[in-house]
Amino acid sequence: MTNPLPFDAYNLLSDAECQTRIRAARAQLGKEVVLLCHHYQRADIYQHADLTGDSLKLSRLAAQTDSPYIVFCGVHFMAEVADMMSKPSQTAILPDLAAGCSMADMANLAKVERCWRELGEVLDVEQEFTPVTYINSAADLKAFCGAHGGIVCTSSNAGSIAKWAFTQRPKILFFPDQHLGRWTGHKMGIPLEDMMVWDPDREYGGLTHDQIKKAKILLWKGHCSVHQMFQKRHIDAFRAQHPDGIVISHPECNFEVCAASDHVGSTELIVKTIKEAPPGTRWLVGTELNLVERLAREVAPEGKIVQFMASTICMCSTMQRIDPQHLAWTLENLAAGHVVNPIVVPPHEAELARLALDRMLAIS
Ligand code: 13P
Ligand code: SF4
Repeated sequence: MTNPLPFDAYNLLSDAECQTRIRAARAQLGKEVVLLCHHYQRADIYQHADLTGDSLKLSRLAAQTDSPYIVFCGVHFMAEVADMMSKPSQTAILPDLAAGCSMADMANLAKVERCWRELGEVLDVEQEFTPVTYINSAADLKAFCGAHGGIVCTSSNAGSIAKWAFTQRPKILFFPDQHLGRWTGHKMGIPLEDMMVWDPDREYGGLTHDQIKKAKILLWKGHCSVHQMFQKRHIDAFRAQHPDGIVISHPECNFEVCAASDHVGSTELIVKTIKEAPPGTRWLVGTELNLVERLAREVAPEGKIVQFMASTICMCSTMQRIDPQHLAWTLENLAAGHVVNPIVVPPHEAELARLALDRMLAIS
């Protein structure tokens, strides 16, 4: 058996050559491989997708595919979910292991366990708090939620998941995205002052015991830097220029942006809403640039105008790491019988994480 093809040689290939080789390898592999792509993926990768979607849709799709190899063109936590939700005979592959999510990295097991311990010094944490992790988190945090009566949510089901969480216990510990947590709580009618930010780098999250006892939701101090580029002033300027324009944002944007938007929802909801909108409408979109540019091109023939919210370029730079060179390297290795970059969640962790994921899927 030959050794896996090293990546170095691929680094020197032109994009055009990679595209030719990607097509040839895919033709050779046929149904052996299925390619899942998140909406933020760059165009030169997205064109090869078999299935596309937001995090919720992709996690369901991963469970429904039959190909032995799932090549995930997204970020690390998505490939972990694909590994956990797919059949034992399937292998999830992430073409570049450096494709992480900087928001997911803002929480880790040591910090969440410390938080849980400190909350336990203030009140009966297992009776008072349901832990809810955004799907943008490592598998061990999903396992933590599975083990402590908690659950996973995505940007498209956070409302119904929070409702479920409150049927279990009176309070929620929400990590790692404070903005999704705050917007979800607000939509449920929870006053902003009853949602406190938990700073994992300070004792007791930087809160007093009374603040912890009063809080309905504790919001982990985490955020997506891509979505923090969007500001309310961008919406104000758009509305002043285009009074009939419509604004749609992702719930990872800050509270002011969400509150000033006409619609707030997942990437799938953003795509669907604009595709189904009447011809001639004008849109301002607060989410990642690759999605917005693709959508703008697709709906332009219907006379719809789609504008990006920020004045600077903001892409998910980690997802961008999945480039034609890495995809060609992954597929040619597969065609030669080598699995490179498999994502394997340890079985004991996967079992607990699946508990929290299955609770989510049963509700949404
Ligand atoms: P969606 O689930 O809405 O696709 O969001 C994933 C994500 O990482 C957004 O930044
Ligand atoms: Fe993570 Fe933000 Fe990229 Fe989404 S856009 S994958 S939250 S870094």
